Amino acid sequence: MNPLNHVAIIMDGNGRWGLKYRNSRNAGHKEGLKTVEKIIKASIKYKIKFLTLYAFSTENWKRPKKEINYLFNLLENFLTHRLNDIHNQNIRIKILGDKKFSTKLNNLLNYAEKKTSKNSKLQINLALNYGSKLELLNAFKKINKKKIKINEKNLEKHLQTKYIPDPEILIRTGNTKRLSNFLLWQLAYSEIFFEKKLWPAFTEKDYKNIIKNYKNIKRNFGKI
Ligand code: FPP
Repeated sequence: MNPLNHVAIIMDGNGRWGLKYRNSRNAGHKEGLKTVEKIIKASIKYKIKFLTLYAFSTENWKRPKKEINYLFNLLENFLTHRLNDIHNQNIRIKILGDKKFSTKLNNLLNYAEKKTSKNSKLQINLALNYGSKLELLNAFKKINKKKIKINEKNLEKHLQTKYIPDPEILIRTGNTKRLSNFLLWQLAYSEIFFEKKLWPAFTEKDYKNIIKNYKNIKRNFGKI
């Protein structure tokens, strides 16, 4: 059976779910947060060590301001009310992406990272204002500035995922088959599961099935 340390998720379909069932995209984001909570719980149950969630991409700034504000308010509320519980569950929060938000949210994100930095049960990497092309470009720039050799080891040391193993599994919900500028380097050998369900409708059972399927895949890594 394949070992499993790291699951990455593109949580797609909130908007469509919200429009279909509540007549509002933002209601879909609110419901999507409930799925986030369920999947965090399940990840602990299945002894996963790293869970990376794509919550806001560098491209998501092109959305209407009202929706962007709603998403960040949701995140702010979530951290304000749930951080103690997250900390008590020995969960570490790490932000991937450029923290270029309001001072209040930036402070809250820094506080959450610092407070939970010694926790070791599960690490949640929250990708916020994250774009993989930008991450790679920044890594190459740093390597160039230091005048060190460009090789895999040095590149990985300059990615934001330094110290984080590559995901064995990528899940994308929402019936769309693309990577959307997410972890392009890190997903080179990941098993990809495209799920038809929209993120708010994704259940622990769906998650469990994906994990079960992954465990039985013959992973060759180029060998036969
Ligand atoms: C993609 O669905 C989802 C997002 C851009 C936001 C993800 C946010 C959450 C799951 C809730 C908040 C999470 C935290 C951690 C506070 P979409 O809006 O692109 O859906 P669509 O494809 O149906 O339009």
